[in-house]
Amino acid sequence: MASLAGRPPIGEVEDLATLARLDEQTLLKELKVRYGRDTIYTYVGDILVAVNPFKTLTIYDKKHTAVYRRAHKSQVPPHIFAIADASYHSMLDSQRNQCCVVSGESGAGKTESAKYMISHLIDLCQGKSTLEQKIIQVNPLLESFGNAQTVMNDNSSRFGKYIQLKFSRQGQILGAKISEYLLEKSRVVRQAPGERNFHIFYYLFAGLDGEEQQKYKLGNPDDQRYLSNGSSPLKRYKKELSNGYDALQTAMDIVGFLAEEQENLFVALGGLLNLGNVRFEGDADRSMVSDPDGPLKHAAFLFGLDPMQLADTMTVSVTVTRGEQIRRNLGVQRASDARDAIAKAVYGRLFSWIVNRVNTLLAPETKVSQTDIVEIGILDIFGFENFDQNSFEQACINLANEQLQYFFNEHIFKMELEEYKKEGIDATKITYEDNKPILEFFMKKPIGFLALLDEESHFPQATDLSFLEKSHTNFKKLPFFARAKDTRSTLFTLSHYAGKVEYDATGFLEKNRDTLPGGVVEMLQISKNGLLSHIFRGTITRTGTLALQSRRDKGARKTRMQSRALAKKAPAAGKSVRKVMTVGGQFKSSLEILMEKMNAASPHFVRCIKPNRQKSANLFEDDYVTAQLSYCGMLETTRIRREGYAMRPTFEEFFTRYKTLAKKKVTVPNGASCRVILEGTGIKNWHIGKTKVFLKYWHVETLTDLLEKVHQAATRLQKIVRGFLAKRRFKRLLAEAAKQRAAVEEFLEFISKNEAKVTQKLQKLLAHDKANPKNFDKAKAEPVQELPPPPLPVVPSTADLPPPPPPDSDESDDDDLDEFEEVIPKRANPNKRFGRQGTKAASVRWFQETQVSQTTTANGQFHEWFHGIITRRAAEQMLTSKPIGCFIVRVSESRFGYSLSFRVADRCKHYMIDQTPSGKFIIVGEPKVHKNLAALVAYHQKNPINEQGDLLTVACGQDSDEELDYADLVATSQQAKMLQSSRDTSARVSRPGGRSPGMAHRSRQQRGVFAAPASSRSGGSRLKGPTGGGAPPLPPR
Ligand SMILES: Nc1ncnc2c1ncn2[C@@H]1O[C@H](COP(=O)(O)OP(=O)(O)OP(=O)(O)O)[C@@H](O)[C@H]1O
Ligand SMILES: [Mg+2]
Repeated sequence: MASLAGRPPIGEVEDLATLARLDEQTLLKELKVRYGRDTIYTYVGDILVAVNPFKTLTIYDKKHTAVYRRAHKSQVPPHIFAIADASYHSMLDSQRNQCCVVSGESGAGKTESAKYMISHLIDLCQGKSTLEQKIIQVNPLLESFGNAQTVMNDNSSRFGKYIQLKFSRQGQILGAKISEYLLEKSRVVRQAPGERNFHIFYYLFAGLDGEEQQKYKLGNPDDQRYLSNGSSPLKRYKKELSNGYDALQTAMDIVGFLAEEQENLFVALGGLLNLGNVRFEGDADRSMVSDPDGPLKHAAFLFGLDPMQLADTMTVSVTVTRGEQIRRNLGVQRASDARDAIAKAVYGRLFSWIVNRVNTLLAPETKVSQTDIVEIGILDIFGFENFDQNSFEQACINLANEQLQYFFNEHIFKMELEEYKKEGIDATKITYEDNKPILEFFMKKPIGFLALLDEESHFPQATDLSFLEKSHTNFKKLPFFARAKDTRSTLFTLSHYAGKVEYDATGFLEKNRDTLPGGVVEMLQISKNGLLSHIFRGTITRTGTLALQSRRDKGARKTRMQSRALAKKAPAAGKSVRKVMTVGGQFKSSLEILMEKMNAASPHFVRCIKPNRQKSANLFEDDYVTAQLSYCGMLETTRIRREGYAMRPTFEEFFTRYKTLAKKKVTVPNGASCRVILEGTGIKNWHIGKTKVFLKYWHVETLTDLLEKVHQAATRLQKIVRGFLAKRRFKRLLAEAAKQRAAVEEFLEFISKNEAKVTQKLQKLLAHDKANPKNFDKAKAEPVQELPPPPLPVVPSTADLPPPPPPDSDESDDDDLDEFEEVIPKRANPNKRFGRQGTKAASVRWFQETQVSQTTTANGQFHEWFHGIITRRAAEQMLTSKPIGCFIVRVSESRFGYSLSFRVADRCKHYMIDQTPSGKFIIVGEPKVHKNLAALVAYHQKNPINEQGDLLTVACGQDSDEELDYADLVATSQQAKMLQSSRDTSARVSRPGGRSPGMAHRSRQQRGVFAAPASSRSGGSRLKGPTGGGAPPLPPR
């Protein structure tokens, strides 16, 4: 921590809140010097300032991850990982939800910061199951569809998102949920100069092969109307874009999108591009599709629609007045608008569907109760925007930023000031700009800006100018609203907390209504593309998200006729006076819900700063940075954090957590007890209020250190007491053992004493029986003298048995528990397709019914590396004598999946292999998906499997020529039949790789032949000896 006595050199201070003197210039200088040294993170109290380096830094590797694991913030340099770490441990310690607000303007680094936080959080909970992989893969997936290149940022998020990571109360990750805000749909149909459409459209052209492009009727990229600024990126960045496509494909597979869903999605996108190419001819009163056999036909085909009907919805408006249908022709411009409106609606719903699917696939298991879940939410939402032309979208985005600033103010300034006042602390010098009035101007009912816009949107005759006129009448007295002097102008200005923005009201009403031409929804509801009909049967909720019905939902299964009838009833475009939810209304509701969530959580703030407009490394533009610092309130924050009390636990919370630090006895959680506790710690400058304890943020670290010492002392005490008790018990057991030894000796002595007597008697009886064989049965034996019962040794009760060996004594023989030393998944395999998991029978059935083709070559032989259900131990035995990298793939007994075992220098390693819902394979914990097992093996024969650089080298074949360890897996009656028929065939036709009849032992290559083993056919569980009879290979299924 910086000293207040002597000013530390510029750039050395990690927490600017500790500087005694701080003004705008100092703040800027400190950040600039640090930035020059590639030190991009700086604290201002517990707020993290992150300056975008625009270059790759080596501060996110494994080494750094380890440093920021339960590290005290003051002991390690500022870092985004430290914020993730703080929120995770704060969640665990307080058992409260946390939220991290990442803000900054476009290109400042919000999304990158959010990604680093998520990856660190996942690392902190040490999960390596498929769930963590899925969460990591959500980003490339959403970015493909929701990000685009803009003039501000090459990978700009064109939607806002709040991602909630859900944890168990012990900190294990359980799932995630994403909320999306205001996707910029207009980008689908038009892009400003120098900007691009969403990444996905370029990925399609760069990543799909010719045949696939043909299937989706993509055509020539130069001819796409919806790529407004041409297809040059496809030539200049082909490799990057094709990598983007691969990453998307991997992400979809890992997250769990089915092959059919992916196909439907690409078909719909192909349809969308073709729709964009539909052109119209005619005049302002009527129009028709220029080339009905061209793009229209393709679009209709891909959308699963009738081309005539599709053309109709764009060129004709149908209204129903008093039961009568009135058809009105639309001019070229209106037809083009209708076409673009359909494209935007399709894309918007597709995006919502993707988010919906992701949420379903990442939802915590239903058996986990909500009360057992705590969350960390990360908000990555568009920053403040002020362009040359600002429209409805900018108004919404800037409203969101006003709301966030208000949230920030509430926490950092206002609540502090109010509490100090209550507690009698002088805070008069601390001032801040309260933006509540402008927020109310936007949100207020009945006459706020959005309410007025809604009111006008519901009037068919209203225009953008009439809306502006009304705004002027209502808001002219407000200091932050001003319309242009020329009353014919549609321009008006709002003074936001971050500065003045001039808006153009043109298009506000239409954008707010966001209506589709009549009949479009109904037409798409009966599309033959399952995905399109599904998303158009869903409804748009109050917050603008898509609420989907289950596909099996009865209500959704309307017949074609019913839907047509519905279509006829649809009101015409422009005519609607329905009080449907508007875009502004939806955004307002979603913001309110977001704020509710955030207000119920403990906040953490990350302020991202963009150092220059050129997106260049090593360039720090003072004026540009100053503007950002001032509008994110950093200077005031600096001051107030330094002077204020960041931590304010209630008496109860403080008492419960720190009572063990008290030097005197404390029993009641009140101010006096808290004072006693604090006085005992030696820390200074705390304050006891009426209900809470006021602490500087660094006090908490000192208290945690002290608590740690107490805990260590308690552990030592326990160790000593337990040792003492164990020794005492051991002595008792020793005495008991001596007693038992004596008893046993006594017993043995008794036996040896009486041995001679018993033998004598026995011999006498035998002689008697021999002499009188006839009377044998009747003979009454001379009564044998009863011997006294031997003294039995006393068996100790179980309670007195010696204690079990300690856990590290390596006596466990549980192969299953021990199975994965590398990767231990915590969730069950999602591929629950057969039987109950965890039984060998279920695994065998799963294998027989779905996996044979995975493990056999084209010739029907098993791959040499394939082994059956064998334990990890057996695998290790097999591999010990083999060369490094020698490997096998075996079937797991307790779950549906495989395990990969291979030899490294001094031991064996084991990795779990799972199957994605789309039928592909992935090593758990690895990001790469493979289309089959052979591809997976081939890939890792060339690419290291881990950071240690281990490669697979040669396959390890079966251990014995006599006994195949996959015998259990291949025997079913059906296969036996197939086997028989193949045998018949092979008697006539000799096939390569097959065995000749009578062959006693199979060669190494032939051992892999997929054949029902003799013992399995006869009900035996294991194959003993060769199959006999020369089974030829069966084709894989
Ligand atoms: N920590 C970082 N290290 C290296 N480069 C970074 C870092 N943060 C951001 N960048 C660079 O800056 C670019 C923009 O960052 P990012 O996409 O996170 O901005 P954003 O604030 O989310 O912008 P938008 O609001 O437009 O979505 C990234 O693509 C990357 O090139
Ligand atoms: Mg972003």
